[in-house]
Amino acid sequence: MKLRDILAASVCGAVMAACAGNTTAVVNEKGLKDAVGDKFLIGTALNVWQSGGIDTSAIKIVKKHFNAIVAENCMKMEEVHPEEGVYDFKDADKFVNFGVDNGLTVTGHCLIWHSQCPAWFFLDDKGKTVTPEVLKQRMKEHITTVVTRYKGKIKGWDVVNEAIVEDGSYRKSKFYEILGEEFIPLAFQYAHEADPDVELYYNDYGMNVQGRRDAVVKMVKSLKERGLRIDAVGMQGHMGMDYPEIDEFEESMLAFASTGVKVMITEWEMSALPTVRRSANISDTVAFRKSLNPYPEALPDSVSKVWNERMAQFFSLFEKHADIVTRVTAWGVSDGDSWKNNFPVPGRKDYALLFDRDYQPKDFVKEIINK
Ligand code: G3I
Repeated sequence: MKLRDILAASVCGAVMAACAGNTTAVVNEKGLKDAVGDKFLIGTALNVWQSGGIDTSAIKIVKKHFNAIVAENCMKMEEVHPEEGVYDFKDADKFVNFGVDNGLTVTGHCLIWHSQCPAWFFLDDKGKTVTPEVLKQRMKEHITTVVTRYKGKIKGWDVVNEAIVEDGSYRKSKFYEILGEEFIPLAFQYAHEADPDVELYYNDYGMNVQGRRDAVVKMVKSLKERGLRIDAVGMQGHMGMDYPEIDEFEESMLAFASTGVKVMITEWEMSALPTVRRSANISDTVAFRKSLNPYPEALPDSVSKVWNERMAQFFSLFEKHADIVTRVTAWGVSDGDSWKNNFPVPGRKDYALLFDRDYQPKDFVKEIINK
């Protein structure tokens, strides 16, 4: 019997089994997005293997469980604008087209960020730091080019990422060094001028910390007083088993909403490993030690139980404030995709996301779906 006959027979058998009401036939169970309904968008970050159509297992999860996506890396400044006058939109186009083709809400990440920003952005042709006027021109050209390209396809942008540190002062980035606080309203102005209809967000981590919380509230109020558009504050949601305190997180959610903007949980995950650093600043790394990688084979049930309980508590918090929360996005599809496997300690095995390495939903996700 030829291979094609064998295949035909097996397909026919499967169809007959399905028609016979065989319970092993794949049925269209409810996905996470169906359970969440219209409370808020439920999304995930995609890497280039997923938005490029290579990681088909993850893509199946995305299509079934999520209605929103954000680019983990492919839209960052060093990726799309590697040299002055040189743009590379190959991966960013694939990401946006994946979202549009699958009817997903697309978020752009991120226009202005101190990290992953190519060095040329701040240097003149003699290698000296550029003047404020030159930096403004470069910011305006970058933002205008990128935002205009995806007009009508992207719902909102992380316009400025991580500009404020824990004590409430401004991060001493090159943007701040050259332009002072002004780089933030300028970024929002340029983005709005490029696409008056797109939503604009400020995004940061550790937003439960009072110093940062108060400074972000002040910054949002200042933007609004200047008549600039800002639609939401992104609370990144990089969590551990012992941080943040849920009541501090809730206090920040309410503080941001009190300024009149919405709140988004933009990069949610929870490390199941011993906390080494509470920062999500990519340069804050720690050398590998076996003691920091306690579960190289699998997460013990006892730890998994606590992890699921804590994730469920935070998800209930988001549902409690569904009037101000418009999106909850996980920072990756399955545990194997998570940046936490290599940050802050390279080479750890973490269990931080909503789906495990076999692409199965974690217990708290199953409970949400089956509620
Ligand atoms: O693409 C290169 C590849 O060509 C090269 O072979 C490889 C090894 O050097 O590096 C690859 O680039 C890496 C990139 O991720 C894509 O995998 C960079 O080194 C690595 O630094 C980068 O890490 C990303 C990090 O941001 C820095 O951009 C993480 O994946 C990403 O999860 C993380 O996400 C940030 C958010 O954008 C902002 N909020 C904090 C969050 C965590 O830092």
